[in-house]
Amino acid sequence: MKTAIETFNNWAHKNKDKGMEKNHSYSVNKMLELIPPKMLSDDFSFIDIGCGNGWVVKKMRDYINCTKSVGIDGAEKMIEKAIKRDKQSHYYQLDIEKMDYKDQFDIVFSMEVFYYFKDPIYVLNYIYKNILKKGGCMLFGIDHYLENKDSLSWGKDLELGLQTLSIDMWESNLLNTGFKNIQSYKFGAKENWSGTLVFYCEKID
Ligand SMILES: C[S@@+](CC[C@H](N)C(=O)[O-])C[C@H]1O[C@@H](n2cnc3c(N)ncnc32)[C@H](O)[C@@H]1O
Repeated sequence: MKTAIETFNNWAHKNKDKGMEKNHSYSVNKMLELIPPKMLSDDFSFIDIGCGNGWVVKKMRDYINCTKSVGIDGAEKMIEKAIKRDKQSHYYQLDIEKMDYKDQFDIVFSMEVFYYFKDPIYVLNYIYKNILKKGGCMLFGIDHYLENKDSLSWGKDLELGLQTLSIDMWESNLLNTGFKNIQSYKFGAKENWSGTLVFYCEKID
């Protein structure tokens, strides 16, 4: 079985990252609207977990109060593309499930990545302990989840082992990790498509 990193490295070679940028932009824009305005009106730092070609990192870097924007992705070609188009941010090629990266951020963001992890609970714990600042928020969006029936064939289609969790399972994992003020949303729902499942949560203590 292929790994997600190999698959997306190949996608980047075929310029399919551009399609993801286009297809994800509606939900991503809605996600970014969830960031408390207070946070954006002060200096803030931002990290994108599984940043692909870096389009969201670059978008956030353009905010006047963004002091640091970082993207992490395992696919070499994605990181190469990100660095090429955005010299002001920082990009690192890392396998998120094996990383020992420990810099801390006010805003942790991720779009369409968490169900590719073999152990998403480990990653949630790692982010909570090492990456998210106290007082900061995390937002992540996923299109593949148990209630979104149209997405359930993706593991087979992509020949990848995906983590198919229900909305309640994601929520209880966030709670068990220690996140507070957990809110969930669905963006872009239409007939036969339940929409992007988005979680907003905070680290209070
Ligand atoms: C569906 S793409 C989404 C990319 C980007 N967030 C976007 O919306 O355009 C998933 C990304 O997660 C990355 N990824 C998956 N598993 C990873 C892992 N274990 N470590 C690092 N990156 C990973 C892939 O390389 C890929 O770029």
